[in-house]
Amino acid sequence: MVFKGLFQTRRKVANNIVVDTAGLDMNNIPEHIAIIMDGNGRWAKAQGKVRTFGHQQGAETLKTIVKAADKLGVKVISAYAFSTENWKRPVTEVNFIMELLSRYLTNEIQEFNDNNVQVRFIGSREGLPEVVKQKMDHAIEETKDNTGIILNLAINYGGQAEILHAVQGIAREVAEGRLDVAKIDNQVVEDHLYTAGLPAPDLLIRPGGDLRISNFLLWQIAYAEIWTTKTYWPDFTPDHLVDAILAYQGRERRFGGLVEK
Ligand code: FPP
Repeated sequence: MVFKGLFQTRRKVANNIVVDTAGLDMNNIPEHIAIIMDGNGRWAKAQGKVRTFGHQQGAETLKTIVKAADKLGVKVISAYAFSTENWKRPVTEVNFIMELLSRYLTNEIQEFNDNNVQVRFIGSREGLPEVVKQKMDHAIEETKDNTGIILNLAINYGGQAEILHAVQGIAREVAEGRLDVAKIDNQVVEDHLYTAGLPAPDLLIRPGGDLRISNFLLWQIAYAEIWTTKTYWPDFTPDHLVDAILAYQGRERRFGGLVEK
């Protein structure tokens, strides 16, 4: 057939980003994808550069992947940018990431708005530099009316700390007589998590080759499908995202139940 090569593959273009959707079931796209952006340091080291160069490149990759995910119909991307444990890193690296975040949240607002991206944050504000907190508030305010994909950035985030925070909030309401212990169910817990109102991730992606959860969204990933690749995050492309979604679409999600055959 003359036109086979031309029409075989459907392509969608977002700015200069090309997403090859061949083989994807567009009716079964994960609503929420969580990403542990790992491998920045190793990526930089492999090319004789300082680790922070990898973080800088990792921030660029995130922009590309958010746009690609949006074009595919993903509704939420939760990206792990800085964990409660990352404070243990050398102060120069911590400072670099804080400055990078601050710059990112200033420079990318226009692009977020041009692409209808709503920015949200999960994590504790305690210990974050004042300037980062201000930029976070600014980003929330400036993008709050956007109706496209939600970029949910995890900053100073830890899954255990999040659950503790929720437990404290619930205990306070019980102590003050505003909540009956018998009424505490999954929904009550979820309403007290940083992710309140967001759907649970359907798919968790971890580049960089390690097979760990690293304290990310512990409650929320109860039934998420996990996909990993040895590729370091700075080298992660829309094609990797499509591969992850293809793998997701090949899984049978049972949520603890059985599927009739
Ligand atoms: C893990 O790679 C990555 C981090 C701890 C930080 C992630 C930060 C970014 C992608 C940049 C900041 C994000 C934004 C949105 C501005 P690693 O350092 O653990 O890499 P390694 O495992 O190779 O050492």
